[in-house]
Amino acid sequence: MQAKDIRSRYLDFFKKQNHAIIPSAPLVPENDPTTLFTGSGMQPIVPYLLGEQHPFGVRIANVQKCFRSQDIEEVGDNRHTTFFEMLGNWSFGNYFKEEQIGWMWNFLTEEIGLDPKRLYFTCFRGNEELGIPRDTESAEMWKMHFSSIGIDADIADFPEQNGMQGARIFYYDEKKNWWSRAGIPQSMPIGEPGGPDTEMFWDFGEELGLHERSPWKDQPCHVNCDCGRFMEIGNNVFMEYKKTANGFEKLSQRNVDFGGGLERLVAAVENDPDIFRSDLFAGLRNRIETLSGKRYGEESSSMYAFRIIMDHIRASVFLISDAVRPSNADQGYVLRRLIRRAVRYADVLGIQSGQLASCVAFVVDDYAGTYEFSGQKNTIENVIANEEAKFRETLAHGTKELEKRLLDGAISGKEAFDLFSTYGFPFEMTQEIAAERGVSVDEKGFRDEFARHQLLSRTASQGKFKGGLANHSAKVTAFHTATHLMLAGLRQELGNDVHQAGSNITEERSRFDFTYPEKVSRDVLDRVEAYVNKAIASGAAVTVQVTEKDVAQRLGIEGSFWEKYPEKVSVYQIASPDGTVYSRELCGGPHVGNTLEMSSFGRFRIIKEEASSAGVRRIKAIFEEDASGSGV
Ligand code: ALA
Repeated sequence: MQAKDIRSRYLDFFKKQNHAIIPSAPLVPENDPTTLFTGSGMQPIVPYLLGEQHPFGVRIANVQKCFRSQDIEEVGDNRHTTFFEMLGNWSFGNYFKEEQIGWMWNFLTEEIGLDPKRLYFTCFRGNEELGIPRDTESAEMWKMHFSSIGIDADIADFPEQNGMQGARIFYYDEKKNWWSRAGIPQSMPIGEPGGPDTEMFWDFGEELGLHERSPWKDQPCHVNCDCGRFMEIGNNVFMEYKKTANGFEKLSQRNVDFGGGLERLVAAVENDPDIFRSDLFAGLRNRIETLSGKRYGEESSSMYAFRIIMDHIRASVFLISDAVRPSNADQGYVLRRLIRRAVRYADVLGIQSGQLASCVAFVVDDYAGTYEFSGQKNTIENVIANEEAKFRETLAHGTKELEKRLLDGAISGKEAFDLFSTYGFPFEMTQEIAAERGVSVDEKGFRDEFARHQLLSRTASQGKFKGGLANHSAKVTAFHTATHLMLAGLRQELGNDVHQAGSNITEERSRFDFTYPEKVSRDVLDRVEAYVNKAIASGAAVTVQVTEKDVAQRLGIEGSFWEKYPEKVSVYQIASPDGTVYSRELCGGPHVGNTLEMSSFGRFRIIKEEASSAGVRRIKAIFEEDASGSGV
């Protein structure tokens, strides 16, 4: 059975269960400012999970192209990719656990013929503090399906400590069996939907001895162990909760959100834990073998490079075909990183320079009949070839600089860091070239310099916020909060390419620079004003949450200089009691606690809009005390 058979069996199966089959959304979301990439099938579906009517009804299914940039560093093992396809089906307040679990059982064991003795399932343990009960229903349903074919499946708890305990169904906490776009319940922003999930696992077999040879060999093996014996092949989310200011509430409807990675289902069907061996990569893998003169899997030392090239080139093809181009910001920056990493690992495999673009035709072939990169092949090849050429220039320049420094012997941490920060020259290349000459590089010095630089830019970015404010008086603070609302309003009106370019706030006014190529009409400014004043009048609470940078980025939180922020960032959210989120932005404060505190200063008004520099506009805004004396 090939990948395309699994795709079509899945869609046919759900069509039979009265699901409408919808096309894949693009990798760059069209109307969703909350994220750079479509990272799961449910992402374009969120409004319908929250109660909006879907034009195709209450049961839908699809195969969605997905990209997860936070996985870039994980690529190289046998199961992680940045690009993947997700099989998905959804119930919008229609069917629930019983139907979903029954269908999944049939799909896995009958449609794609997986051996039930090698299937395992996990369910949510429950959390009293959050007020979310244990999902015994799902556990009992899986048990019932096992028993229908004569397998007596036990349900066990605490597999993390106690291992398999001879069971097939296990309870885990919210770190494993809860799903929302923001991860665990504790890190979800207000308004975000989520719920407990039940996950499905494939067992590649104890006999492979993976656990004994893994770093976890002294701990008990269980289905969520990282040793590689088990692979998660699908996730059924019972999305029935929403985070509020006072904990979790039931959504107006009970939803099902299923997602299963195609690559992983193929791995289970083939019973081969290495997804890079599947037919999804067949042509591309062959091409890299031809270019490098090496065979994939023959020597373990080259497997890592093979996988990185396979993943990154395939992902680049899909991103470019969805209109992404290499650049220094947002999606373009991610694409640039992918191509440049592929170039570096092509060098590792000894592939001649300028050859990577020739892989594109093979990816196009691997996906023929499923994704038509109609007429885009040449464009994709050109984008990759140009980016490789640019990167090689950077490398050549950096190498020259390095050569000069090598003449004086050992490379200090500061020198290595300068090469990295000024010439974009990767540290590993400094190490490699120096090693060839028998010259040492101060790695610790480099890391220290790197950390010091991060600290400096963190301080600078905090300083920037502080510097933007004349002082921390009540009025300046009110202006600061109003300025967040204004930026959110501008983005709503003018699109998500609008970002802060600078700000300066005094007791008299807020002066705010933002990226936008042309004059903003008075109509638009009026609407932005109205947006700010509406938020102020709504009594919105300003809350701050410290979160992981990549989570904030994934959620599309507004921020201007991502690469300069530390790993943990503070997100300021302005949300009214009815749940409307007016603004979410990275910041260092200070802000008002509730927008009603601002109303005493009067109505927010934009009094001027003008050019500041190329591609940057400047706004001046004030609080206008109106005649009726809205003051307190
Ligand atoms: N949305 C769920 C996931 O991505 C199904 O795992």
